[in-house]
Amino acid sequence: MENNLFGDQERQETFAVFADHVSSGKVQFFTGAGVDFIPGRREGIYMWDIGGEKRLIDCHCNGGVFNLGHRNPAILEQLKSALADLDIGNHHLISRQRAILAQKLAELAPGDLAYTVFGVGGGEAIDLAIKVARGYTNRQKIISARGGYHGHTGLALAAGDEKYYAPFGAPLSGFLQIPFNDIDALQKALDNETAALIVETVPATFGIAVPDPDYLAQARQLCHQQGSLLIVDEVQSGLGRTGKLWAVQHFGIEPDILVTGKGLSGGIYPITATCFRSELETVFHDDPFIHISTFGGSEVGCMVALKVLEISSDPAFLAHVQAVAGQFSNEYAKLQDKYPALLVRLRQLGMMMGIEMVNEMCGPLFTKAAFEAGLLSVYANNDTRVAQLLPPLIVQQEDVPEIMMRVDMALGGVSKVLGL
Ligand SMILES: Cc1ncc(COP(=O)(O)O)c(C=O)c1O
Repeated sequence: MENNLFGDQERQETFAVFADHVSSGKVQFFTGAGVDFIPGRREGIYMWDIGGEKRLIDCHCNGGVFNLGHRNPAILEQLKSALADLDIGNHHLISRQRAILAQKLAELAPGDLAYTVFGVGGGEAIDLAIKVARGYTNRQKIISARGGYHGHTGLALAAGDEKYYAPFGAPLSGFLQIPFNDIDALQKALDNETAALIVETVPATFGIAVPDPDYLAQARQLCHQQGSLLIVDEVQSGLGRTGKLWAVQHFGIEPDILVTGKGLSGGIYPITATCFRSELETVFHDDPFIHISTFGGSEVGCMVALKVLEISSDPAFLAHVQAVAGQFSNEYAKLQDKYPALLVRLRQLGMMMGIEMVNEMCGPLFTKAAFEAGLLSVYANNDTRVAQLLPPLIVQQEDVPEIMMRVDMALGGVSKVLGL
């Protein structure tokens, strides 16, 4: 069989070796939950188990890493041609590829985000955003949203929920969390010691919490009044996910710093970017080497990211995302009628979607039932009422009924377990 890459013995061996040398806890968790999947072949919107039999439609996409699908041919081609004469490059030296990619980001980003520092992971890029904000304002306080998620590295971790940093020692000073989408709370928290407010434009781990239409504009104004910066984390919401290149474009605001990652990799070569206003570059004037990252902005990665931006910023691509998003919303409306006791609403901005259900057990139950129905959908860890529905943006209109048929099956499974 074409997809049957490994036999059952190799599958079991993989679980055992992974448990012995990578993470025993993860093996216990996934096998215990009945999600005994090891990704093998992958293509477009699909992933197959290494045993070849089980196929999943990827509606997790690692939070946007696979916006352009798995092994997108245009991205693979770009990487191959970059490898003909490039490598990672030297992070201390001047780089033509980093220059061109930063220029492209400046052209596409909202407002005057003329400068970019590249990283490898999203957490690292958020860390730098916070460093720039503190260095520029000469203030320490960072305000973030409860339930928001910015990564597991130093400053990004400190801006997140306590449960993620508590096992690793005392919290870092200078961080304050407030409720998301609460302008009064922000007004109370912001003061002349605040370096920045950091928010995801649409908090993903908090359950695709789409803010009120004027929240971000008001936040922008309040930050401005206090001389504080606004950092938007578009690691998940950027690059076309919401039907616009950047989610902030829905809210008509210009941030001081924008962070992008995940999908910038094309699912092939890790790269992230912290983009900031020209003025903020003064932070690096005394010592341009004050922040460095060996693999940040690797030159082959820059070439991949350029192709990602070319595809994702194409108006036809964004129109496609909007059209398919509309189709998901129509199909969902039928399910809302079918499962009134289970479903609360579809949280949606373009193809950034979360299925809100009645209680905290629903998300995990949905993930399991969706897996059984052939769909990878992961619940929102900071609001487990919500199952994230994040298909690759290259999904075609004809795929939508099949995806929603599987969502229907999963909802049927959850209803049954809960006796609804
Ligand atoms: C909104 C957001 N910001 C930052 C990060 C951190 O990115 P990374 O895992 O690449 O460090 C994530 C990761 O899931 C994220 O969802």
